Amino acid sequence: MNVRVAYYSATGNTRKVAGAIADALGCEAVGIDAYPADGVELLFLGAAVYATHGHGVHQAVKDFVAGLDPAMVGKVALFSTGFIQSEAIPILRGLLAARGIPVAEESFFCLGRFALFNLGRPNAVDLLAAAEFAKRTLHNR
Ligand SMILES: Cc1cc2nc3c(=O)[nH]c(=O)nc-3n(C[C@H](O)[C@H](O)[C@H](O)COP(=O)(O)O)c2cc1C
Repeated sequence: MNVRVAYYSATGNTRKVAGAIADALGCEAVGIDAYPADGVELLFLGAAVYATHGHGVHQAVKDFVAGLDPAMVGKVALFSTGFIQSEAIPILRGLLAARGIPVAEESFFCLGRFALFNLGRPNAVDLLAAAEFAKRTLHNR
């Protein structure tokens, strides 16, 4: 099965989760700017929200979703990190739904370090949970 992992990460938290997911799947995690425009059966997509972007996802993430060809993407599975709660997941769901791209019901979220908050997150337990999420999602596709 053709599986890919793509992410946007300003401070590295979501990148760590992307790496754990990719390791669990035996593939490589790539930033959305390096994502190849070929077909994919299951795409794991990760992002977070930023006050500097209207408390939403970065414009590059919106552009990335807008540029996905629905005919080339079987399903997207979402993951995110954040300060308190998963605000990026519903935003991404909405963007993908508007493009007619199916989204897996289960998503993954864990806390991410922000200034002096959530120090050490994502931690080893978070990354293990992300890997389990990836395997479950692949299995249930
Ligand atoms: C510049 C900046 C602005 C942020 N603004 C918000 C925000 O408005 N709301 C929120 O819940 N989290 C906010 N956060 C927290 C991030 O969503 C959180 O740290 C996330 O894990 C960052 O992911 P990343 O390291 O992959 O970029 C902000 C973080 C940064 C660095």
